[in-house]
Amino acid sequence: MSKVLVIGAGGVGSVVVKKCASVPSVFTEIILASRTVSKCEKIAQETFEKYGRKVETYQLDADNVADTVALINKTKPKLVINVALPYQDLPIMDACLETGVHYMDTANYEPIDEAKFEYSWQWAYQDRFKEKGIMALLGCGFDPGVTGVYTAYAAKHYFDEIHYLDIVDCNGGDHGKAFATNFNPEINIREITQKGKYFEDGLWVEIDAMSVHKKINYPNIGERDSYLLYHEELESLVKNFPTIKRARFWMTFGQEYLTHLRVLQNVGMTSIHPIVYEGKAIVPLKFLKAVLPEPSELGENYSGETSIGCQIKGIKDGKETTYYIYNNCKHQAAYNDVKSQGVSYTTGVPAMVGAMMMLTGEWMKAGVYNVEEFNPDPFLEKVAEHGLPWQEELNKPLAVNT
Ligand SMILES: NC(=O)c1ccc[n+]([C@@H]2O[C@H](COP(=O)([O-])OP(=O)(O)OC[C@H]3O[C@@H](n4cnc5c(N)ncnc54)[C@H](OP(=O)(O)O)[C@@H]3O)[C@@H](O)[C@H]2O)c1
Repeated sequence: MSKVLVIGAGGVGSVVVKKCASVPSVFTEIILASRTVSKCEKIAQETFEKYGRKVETYQLDADNVADTVALINKTKPKLVINVALPYQDLPIMDACLETGVHYMDTANYEPIDEAKFEYSWQWAYQDRFKEKGIMALLGCGFDPGVTGVYTAYAAKHYFDEIHYLDIVDCNGGDHGKAFATNFNPEINIREITQKGKYFEDGLWVEIDAMSVHKKINYPNIGERDSYLLYHEELESLVKNFPTIKRARFWMTFGQEYLTHLRVLQNVGMTSIHPIVYEGKAIVPLKFLKAVLPEPSELGENYSGETSIGCQIKGIKDGKETTYYIYNNCKHQAAYNDVKSQGVSYTTGVPAMVGAMMMLTGEWMKAGVYNVEEFNPDPFLEKVAEHGLPWQEELNKPLAVNT
């Protein structure tokens, strides 16, 4: 039915390509382009071996709008799935506008010289996308992504008003490395070393990085120390569900990880400001990324599972209601399916399903949208069918209900 262009051949890109290949009725042709073409070729080879589907590959620096426009004009996709880095969001959206092609991503724009992510830059494309008659779907991974759809599903089926939202993200897995990040190390470390933030009574409350934490009990995993972070879906969810009084995001970190991070921070290795080394300007965090394991290489010996969900409190028919909706994903199950670890998998599967929603017309209208603005039901059905079923608990005590 449709040709797609996937940009980014990392951990998530690998899952997106393979999952698209598994649905030939929707994704009739798949093109993969990234900065390092050998990574595209490896994914194409694995995809051919497993699904017997050919993937066309191209070298592309997506920071360069003209190059992306040229590739789109040459290959003529209906949709671009951006799973490169958040820095490329705006240049790729510009290329889509110029060529009249739909766009989607899994992480909101972030300028390279400032560790600050917010939707304002991408929401500012609303009128231009509408006028061009094309759609942009923002943040369609797991978090952001499925967490927004879970919230929309809760609002549709279980609540008249959502008042309290806690997104809880646990990686209860072990990859056997002393220190590695589960998605792009540069983006991950920028995210967790910046100040934390949550929404309460109409205001954003800022806290020092990792200064608020509590033990949260995760299904099938148990209690884990969970830290309050700022996460991008909070921004769109409090806008799209204005009855929310408080919205927070919690993520687990092990002590070993935090100790490594503290040391790296203390010695200046997480800085995004260039230093001059042997006459060459280098960014310490980019150098650190180069010596850390690639997220796409963590899968083989990864044990344990992830558990990510939304804990919600609000009102239904005048009565206080609590609801917890979540998914648990075993790293080995992800590896057995597409040779990936669970974090890339829980991002790549919803990205493929978001693309499917757009291409089949379930979610299609001109303009720039977040996932929670669409009907959650067909999305959740397909996400479950393709590897990430949801569980739910109604009116049971919530772990973070304080
Ligand atoms: N929503 C969610 O739940 C969620 C969860 C995890 C990750 N994410 C997002 O998913 C994206 C991918 O993460 P990942 O773990 O797959 O990272 P990754 O393994 O580091 O992969 C990123 C890929 O993008 C390529 N790339 C970087 N700059 C490029 C450019 N200018 N032009 C073309 N390609 C470029 C990289 O090329 P090289 O190989 O040459 O470096 C690499 O192949 C990130 O934006 C991340 O924030 C979202």
